[in-house]
Amino acid sequence: MRYARAVVSSPATIANFGPGFDSFGLCLDSPRDQVTVRKAKSGFFEVKVKGKNTVPTDPMENTASYAAIKLAESCGCNDLGFSMTIAKGMKPGSGIGSSAASSVGGALAMAAMLDVKDKGLILEAAAMGEELISGARHFDNVAAALFGGFTVVSDVRKRTILQIRPPRFQIVVVIPDVTIETRRARAVLPKKVDMGDAVCNLSLASGMVHAMMKRNVRAIASHLGDSLSVPYRKSLVPGYDAVRDSAMAAGALGVSIGGSGPAVFAIAQGSASKIRLAMAKAFKESAGLASESFVTVPGTGAKVESLS
Ligand code: HSE
Repeated sequence: MRYARAVVSSPATIANFGPGFDSFGLCLDSPRDQVTVRKAKSGFFEVKVKGKNTVPTDPMENTASYAAIKLAESCGCNDLGFSMTIAKGMKPGSGIGSSAASSVGGALAMAAMLDVKDKGLILEAAAMGEELISGARHFDNVAAALFGGFTVVSDVRKRTILQIRPPRFQIVVVIPDVTIETRRARAVLPKKVDMGDAVCNLSLASGMVHAMMKRNVRAIASHLGDSLSVPYRKSLVPGYDAVRDSAMAAGALGVSIGGSGPAVFAIAQGSASKIRLAMAKAFKESAGLASESFVTVPGTGAKVESLS
């Protein structure tokens, strides 16, 4: 290992972003996880977690350490040992890419310590961390967390990731007090989809990419529809329809579920505080649910904060 210590900050993300199931990802400016890795003697592995958000501390069950180990293995490092500290900035199972933020943090920190620059290797290792939690190696959250901005997994077989710099807009995120495991949210989806639904998503997704490239916020928001996952998953998010309607009535330009939920996000330009309050109130009144909420903007990807 070339370096003894690395600190990485890694952001929350919104996967699917409307019509792009397992394909689109938007990197958020905040919140972020911070992952610190210190070199230790070969065969010693330790994970500590700081903050109120708990995640496993077994190195083979924690996404960040698992991704770090996978990254090191893929680079042929055979005298591995480390102590890792994760400051969790987000709640697991909330729909804003908590496991991806940690996986990317772990993989990128290990890559920095090994002086590995290949982003493909980091992406692959991070996706393995994601798979550990969700049971599926999907790349949408990890791509957005690693590269930043708006990302499209345009060919999953070849791991082709397109990066588009989004315009600046407000993203209101409201997370009701229910936890949804991605594994469970994937299990409610149908194995086969209707041709009309597939065509609808194909059109919306194509329009979304165009809108992002044109940096047109209204067009981005108007392409947030989805027929492949939201109709099946909204039953896992009590009050979803009321929350969406109240966000739109308060001035949101578009609304959808963040990743596998239960986070609901709205796109706004200017009335974010009002929208946030309206959404939180709707969760309370329609489903009796308390919620956490924040307003952010599109962000840049994971960053090595220090290396020594
Ligand atoms: N694309 C994944 C899903 C994201 O919707 O299941 C999970 O965060």
